[in-house]
Amino acid sequence: KNIVVLISGSGSNLQAIIDACQSGAINGTIRAVFSNVSDAYGLTRAQQAGIATEVAEPKGFADRTAYDIALADRIDHYQPDLIVLAGYMRILSPAFVNRYSGKLLNIHPSLLPKYPGLHTHSQALANGDQEHGTTVHFVTEELDGGPIILQAKIPLSASDTEADIIGRVQVEEHRIYPLVVSWFVNGRLAMREGKAWMDDRVL
Ligand code: GRF
Repeated sequence: KNIVVLISGSGSNLQAIIDACQSGAINGTIRAVFSNVSDAYGLTRAQQAGIATEVAEPKGFADRTAYDIALADRIDHYQPDLIVLAGYMRILSPAFVNRYSGKLLNIHPSLLPKYPGLHTHSQALANGDQEHGTTVHFVTEELDGGPIILQAKIPLSASDTEADIIGRVQVEEHRIYPLVVSWFVNGRLAMREGKAWMDDRVL
């Protein structure tokens, strides 16, 4: 299966997926990594793994939809079966989301539906939450609101700092995101009637 990954930053989740493809844990190939940020470190990770990279900067486009359609046209060159958002920090327009409905995954650093959007870690701490975590979900038009596939939790304690929990959440992300991608490429996970459907054997 052909996978395309979209990033904006460090690409540690991208790295986890690259590693899982190389080890055979994911039965697929990352055909390209796209970034909207030209100096994202994830691009270097992709190049080191011999994966095609493309930078698609939003400058010069009339609006979000125009940019997203141009981006999708470039993505389609790689005939993706799956598009993975891995720290892609732009909101996607309905035109993009609907074009790839059921083929678009995201990871979000909170226990959704808690804390969609930014600053999830500081909100969890400020609210005195006992637990926090990360969520892999299908992407729909609602920001961070698509059907939930898998979550991983970490316990929080009063002495935790934001830096502590970012690191602990990322450890979980690097575990669960490749796992979900492997289910998808093996046909054991799909979006059906607006819900995440999973083969009984996956868990
Ligand atoms: C991750 O924490 C992910 O949940 C969020 O952005 C971060 C990306 O980190 N969407 P990285 O670029 O994969 O290191």
